[in-house]
Amino acid sequence: PASTTDPAHGELSVGGVALTELADRFGTPVYVLDEAEVRERCRTYRHAFPDAEIHYAAKAFLCRAMAHWVDEEGLGLDVCSAGELELAVTTGFPPERIVLHGNAKSPRDLETALRLRVGRIVIDSPSEIARLAAAVGPNGSQKVMIRVVPGIGAGGHEKIRTGTDDQKFGLSISDGYAQHAIARILDQPQLRLTGLHCHLGSQITGVKPYLVAVRRMVGLMLRLHEQHGLVLPELDLGGGHGIAYRPGEPALDLTALARRVRAELSDACATAGLPVPRLIIEPGRAIAGPAGVALYRVLAVKHTGEKVFVAVDGGMSDNPRPALYGVRYAPVLAGRRSTAAPARVTVVGRHCEAGDVLAADVELPGDVHPGDLLAVPVAGAYHLSMASAYNLVGRPPVAAVRDGHARLLVRRESLADIRSRDVGL
Ligand code: LLP
Repeated sequence: PASTTDPAHGELSVGGVALTELADRFGTPVYVLDEAEVRERCRTYRHAFPDAEIHYAAKAFLCRAMAHWVDEEGLGLDVCSAGELELAVTTGFPPERIVLHGNAKSPRDLETALRLRVGRIVIDSPSEIARLAAAVGPNGSQKVMIRVVPGIGAGGHEKIRTGTDDQKFGLSISDGYAQHAIARILDQPQLRLTGLHCHLGSQITGVKPYLVAVRRMVGLMLRLHEQHGLVLPELDLGGGHGIAYRPGEPALDLTALARRVRAELSDACATAGLPVPRLIIEPGRAIAGPAGVALYRVLAVKHTGEKVFVAVDGGMSDNPRPALYGVRYAPVLAGRRSTAAPARVTVVGRHCEAGDVLAADVELPGDVHPGDLLAVPVAGAYHLSMASAYNLVGRPPVAAVRDGHARLLVRRESLADIRSRDVGL
C-alpha cells in the first residue's frame, strides 16, 4: 500500500513525505491520503475494464479533493445522500456521471438529485416509484435503474452482505418483487429504466459470486425481454472488491474479475439472444482503502497480568471497523528504528469503553513507549467516512501527499466546531 520504508533510518514515508513530518505538521491522529495511489487505482480499474463505466463509491471516503481526482481520472461517482451529492457537484463533478443510491431516500435527497440533474437514480423499493415519478413531474424525464437482489451470500462480514433476500436493500428476483416493481416503473413514462443494478456485498475476495450474479441478472433481463419486449442497455454489478488489510491476506484479483465477468456476460447474453449491456461497476474500498494511512501518537503503555496495552490518541471514533466487523489491522512503529525484540500487544484507543480496540494481539517492538508514532496502513476507506463524535474528541484531519509535498484537505474538527452545534440550554 501507500507507505514505504527507508531502510537506512527505519523511517516510514508516504508519497515521499516522512510520517514523522506529517505528524509534526498536522498533529495526531491524522489521516494521510496518497494522491498518486488513488489515481493509480482509478487507472488500474479503467485499464482492467476498458469498456465499463467505473463509478467510485463515495461512501468509502469523500472530500472535495477526492471528488476532483476521481473526476480527473474519468470515473463516475456513486452517492447515497444529498450531502455526498452536493459536495461532489459543488466541486465541479459532472452530475450526469453521478448515480444516486439509497434504500430510504429522503425528500431532500430526491429533490437535490433532480435539481442537480444526476445521471441516474437507483430505485430500491416499490414506494419510491410513485414518489420519484411525482417529483420528476409529468413533463420531466429521469434515467433510473432498479436495485435487484440476486440471492447470493458474499462479503467479508454478515453486516456488509447485501446480495441475499433477507436484508434491507433492493428487490429480490426469487419472489418476483423485482419483476413486479419493474412493470410499475415501465408504467411511468417520465422514468426511463436504463438497466439493472445489484451490489452483492463488500470485501469480497473471490470472482465466483460476481459470475453467479451475471447469470442471474441476465436471466432476469431475458424474462423482461420476453414479458415486456424490453432490452436494457446497462448492467451495474456494484462494488465490493476485497483488499488486503494485513500482509498476506487475499485480495480480489481485478484482472481476473474483469476477464471472467466479461466472458460470462458475453456467454450469458449470447445464450439469451440479448445484446451485451454496458457494464458499470462501483468500487469504493479498493480505490480509497490502500491509499490511506492513519497516524496515531502513543499516549500510554500498560502491562496487565495477561496483556500489554498500547493506547493511542484516536480509536473507535475515527475507525469503528474493528469494533463493528472484527477487522484486523497491522499497525507499525513509525518514525524510529527499534532493535528491541517484538512483543505481542493490543493497540487500544482513547474512548470510554473496553471494546475500543484498534488492533488486538499484534506484534510491535517491545520498547514501544508514550510519544512513539504508530501508523495503521490501509486506512483510506470507511474510517473517516464512518467517524463519530463519540466522547467529543473531534474528528481527525485529512492531509494529502504527492511528490514529496503534503497539504491539508480537511481540517481537524475543533472544540469550537463541536460547541457551535450545541445551541440550546
Ligand atoms: N455500491 C453500492 C450500492 C454500495 O452499497 C457499496 C457499499 C459500494 C458500491 C461500494 O462497495 P465497496 O467496493 O467499497 O466494497 N462500512 C463497511 C462497508 C459498507 C459498504 C456499503 N456499501 C466496511 O467498513 O467494511
